[in-house]
Amino acid sequence: MVSFTLSVLLTLASTALSQNTTLRYMPFGDSITEIVCWRALLWDKLQTTEWAGTVDFVGSGKTENNCGNTKYDRDNEGHSGFLAINIANQNQLDGWLTRNPADVITMHLGTNDIAQQSKPTADILAAFTKLVGTMRAHNAKMKIVVAQIIPISFGTSNTKIQDLNKQIPSWASGLNKTESPIWVVDQYTGFSTSDLRDGVHPNASGDKKMLDKWWPAFLKALAAAKADKAKVEMEYVA
Ligand SMILES: *[C@@H]1O[C@H](CO)[C@@H](O)[C@H](O)[C@H]1NC(C)=O
Ligand SMILES: *[C@@H]1O[C@H](CO)[C@@H](O)[C@H](O)[C@H]1NC(C)=O
Ligand SMILES: *[C@@H]1O[C@H](CO)[C@@H](O)[C@H](O)[C@H]1NC(C)=O
Repeated sequence: MVSFTLSVLLTLASTALSQNTTLRYMPFGDSITEIVCWRALLWDKLQTTEWAGTVDFVGSGKTENNCGNTKYDRDNEGHSGFLAINIANQNQLDGWLTRNPADVITMHLGTNDIAQQSKPTADILAAFTKLVGTMRAHNAKMKIVVAQIIPISFGTSNTKIQDLNKQIPSWASGLNKTESPIWVVDQYTGFSTSDLRDGVHPNASGDKKMLDKWWPAFLKALAAAKADKAKVEMEYVA
């Protein structure tokens, strides 16, 4: 009897231990996620922490960005030129998350909605709401980090960016969930147009600023995702 119980426990425990605890992180957005170097900086910085080797960057894109870094995990879901509104209307994130499931996601979107088509803030936020719904449909425990986006060099667009950014915190808190938190990261404050290489995309100093802004929320998201996986293991053992 005792040995039977023990062997059942050992089987359950080894099942639990064989659960894959690698965290899957999707960098999601437009060109400010795709053709930039903050992802390389983020990957490098992770390797200097307790998270080294435990986070897999995922996504269909593998763009070489001339970051002078041959080692980082380039997988991402940044799509140059894309509008949040179009991604939402065309349901594109659904396919992207089907191909590459994620535990943690960062989203920096809205720049093209504003710079290309001067879309109303309310329509951009409605698209964000649909995108968060898609994330949670794929993973009810998705840990979500959303950016108040960086400035661009064109004055009128920048006024609209400020308007969008101003509304993001209350939009996000309205959708916040204990099992799927949304953390808002202010990428605008302290980012100067002189941190842009071409009026739109960060240069080296902008990439570093973006890394530093993502970092604290990103670590919270990783810790929350890791806690979920540990809970699953406990349920197996119990
Ligand atoms: C665990 O998951 C990661 C990320 O998806 C994957 O790269 C790795 O191959 C998996 N490991 C095993 C042992 O299945
Ligand atoms: C969402 O909830 C988390 C705690 O679970 C909190 O840290 C975060 O700031 C909240 N986000 C917003 C936008 O209120
Ligand atoms: C970033 O670009 C700006 C404007 O061109 C320049 O003043 C600054 O020195 C650049 N910084 C870095 C770190 O490349």
